[in-house]
Amino acid sequence: MKKNSVSVGIIGFGTVGSGTAHILITSADVIRERTGFAVELKRIADLDVTRDRGVKLPAGMLTTDPAAVIDDPDIDIVIELMGGIHPAKEFMIRAIRNGKHVVTANKALLATEGNELFAEAERAGVEIGFEASVAGGIPIIKVLREGLIANRIIAVYGIINGTSNYIFTKMSDEKVEFSEALKEAQRLGYAEADPAFDIEGIDSAHKLTILASLAYGIPLSYNEVYKEGITRITAQDIAFAAELGYKVKLLAITKATNEGIEMRVHPTMVPNEYLISKVDGVFNAVYVQGDAVGATLYYGRGAGDMPTGSAVVADIIDIGRNVMCGSTRRIPGIPGFVKPGAAAKKIKKMDDVESMYYFRFSAFDEPGVLSRISGILGNYNISIASVIQKGRSIGGSVPVVVLAHRSREKDVLSALREIDALPVVSEKTLFIRVEDSKE
Ligand code: HSE
Repeated sequence: MKKNSVSVGIIGFGTVGSGTAHILITSADVIRERTGFAVELKRIADLDVTRDRGVKLPAGMLTTDPAAVIDDPDIDIVIELMGGIHPAKEFMIRAIRNGKHVVTANKALLATEGNELFAEAERAGVEIGFEASVAGGIPIIKVLREGLIANRIIAVYGIINGTSNYIFTKMSDEKVEFSEALKEAQRLGYAEADPAFDIEGIDSAHKLTILASLAYGIPLSYNEVYKEGITRITAQDIAFAAELGYKVKLLAITKATNEGIEMRVHPTMVPNEYLISKVDGVFNAVYVQGDAVGATLYYGRGAGDMPTGSAVVADIIDIGRNVMCGSTRRIPGIPGFVKPGAAAKKIKKMDDVESMYYFRFSAFDEPGVLSRISGILGNYNISIASVIQKGRSIGGSVPVVVLAHRSREKDVLSALREIDALPVVSEKTLFIRVEDSKE
């Protein structure tokens, strides 16, 4: 690397690639002024070199050959923005073995293959920048690795999938059902290439894997994250939740408890008085509670060309600055800050997680039904906080909504198995976990 410039190449000229190139070109003067060095964009590789992305590039910059970036000895930092696992993983390893630093927005790759990639980077003495992999433009990686380094992290709660948040917001504001809201999210281009990643909680779980690793110094443990999507939630549930004083959000949660670290993604009812309940539309927010700092909240755009490009360029500059003063790998990558040889930390099983619960039973409107349901709940130590039943249905079923005090997941699942087998219950019971610190 030269003294006054750093040379970068991008692989993947899609949404984030275009935003990154745009920022590097249009903000070159600002970057030079603030850092004292230039970031030179040398090559961009993509299979499609003809589509107009609205970014004016010098002739010859675009290539269809990724090797022109990965193997170019003049390129210091390879920016991987192609997404997916293969061949992104192989390209990244080749760049690392070539002695190049890497910057990526690829949360799926890091969550599932990251332990190997970070070990490769350590061996090669290079850095992997991954600010753009979680919550787009919100600098949450920097918050956990640097800003809150003095804290034991008590809990992290994130709305880190804009598509699901957009869907819930639309269902709540316009009283439309899930399928209609999803179609609109896809039309607006918010959803991942495979929308299952958004609506089944997979994208949030990828991002949570990264946050938990940084917060608790554990290896990337994607397979240990409990995931539940948003497809079963109806506009009626969102309306009942509102009546009870809650918003429904797809929350990614990691917490330190005496029984181990919780890592879970599921629809969650959040009290209206929590700031995070007000995060609507495609916006993301991450709440971090530290033992010294207390409660903190970070809000912004979690996707899109320019917000995510902003995070990619910040990583390039961080790496550039480190190289300029000869101090690369100053801040550990993943898993966060762990003493070599330290015992593995325990991950809590979902069965042992405790929270309040919302239940929507579909029950026949007959005398004694509620007492049979509440009897089973009582047998499993599940205590009722409130009940809503509206309307009458002679010979048919009605929704009976119950809010339960803090209970254990294992007990809830056992109780629901018994309740759903009752002849007076017509459909599988819908339940939503409730976060409420008043409990
Ligand atoms: N599909 C993702 C979202 C994009 O909706 O948030 C950003 O990772």
